[in-house]
Amino acid sequence: MSRKTVLSLMRATGVLHLGNYLGAARDFAALSVDPGYDCFFGIADLHALTSLDDPEALRASTRAVARDYLAAGVDAERAVLFRQSAIPETSELFWLLCNVTSAGELQRSKTFQEMSRKQPENVNAGLLTYPVLMAADILGPRADLVPVGEDQMPHLEMARNIAQRFNHRFGETFPLPEAYRKSAIRVPGLDGLGKMSKSDGNGFGIAESPERIWELLRLATTDPARQRRSDPGNPDLCPIGHLHRYVSPAEDVARTEEGCRTAGIGCIDCKKVLHGNVVALLAPVRERSARLADARVEEVLAAGADRARERIAATLATAKERMGL
Ligand code: TRP
Ligand code: SF4
Repeated sequence: MSRKTVLSLMRATGVLHLGNYLGAARDFAALSVDPGYDCFFGIADLHALTSLDDPEALRASTRAVARDYLAAGVDAERAVLFRQSAIPETSELFWLLCNVTSAGELQRSKTFQEMSRKQPENVNAGLLTYPVLMAADILGPRADLVPVGEDQMPHLEMARNIAQRFNHRFGETFPLPEAYRKSAIRVPGLDGLGKMSKSDGNGFGIAESPERIWELLRLATTDPARQRRSDPGNPDLCPIGHLHRYVSPAEDVARTEEGCRTAGIGCIDCKKVLHGNVVALLAPVRERSARLADARVEEVLAAGADRARERIAATLATAKERMGL
């Protein structure tokens, strides 16, 4: 009978793209209306500070992600939608958790090393302690299930270790969070078979106009071996072929794949079919986004912060008490 608590945050890095939608936001929307779950969905603006360059851009990005969560169909009456920075209790819990976190484990973390390599001029302590803040995000609302991508699994593992160490030293306080995963999904970008990613600018926003989406699809990379219309192609080696499998009905997938392999259709026709299906898939998202005023987004975030704080404050009080504070 008891409901599971689901929690996930997305980094505040601008509007959500198709990959974020298929891989995460669409599931968040479904979970938000499922009576079996209490959902907490956040925008990780504190985590974004580890690679901060522009305060105004961060402010705009944070709101853009919140708007896209709502546009994707997250039910704000049921799910709690919040800015990470609006919950001071998370930062306080972060400090408590730092003291049951192994410094060596943080230093050895692959993601720390990777992020340091990406910004060698700015290897700040935030990058090092990133997983502890993430553990505070997860443990504060006492989450049972965390929908995360493959790349975040080591961080979730660290959150479990931290919870376990805390429980062992101070008594059962945190449930051990588990990954919530349906099937791993890897949406390719428009420039090849690599993942669609914000930093690579190889995707399109989920509330983008049909015209803009076409502009981007039209220029997208296809099977490099298919130079001329008369050359047969291989949809396995083409991002458009992969995207069809994620968004098109089975008969369109079958028809375009057959046409590709036999040079029966050209790439532009194939892309037009995909475009129609993408636009249909995202139509409700675009409509919801157009109806959403900024003031409404802010109102949802403010109400969400109150609800999240109440729950996290209770956990924090227990943790402090047990640690002797
Ligand atoms: N680090 C995650 C990412 O980059 C975002 C994140 C922050 C998160 N806190 C979290 C994800 C808590 C799940 C749970 O994608
Ligand atoms: Fe890609 Fe479609 Fe062209 Fe085949 S026909 S190479 S799947 S765009």
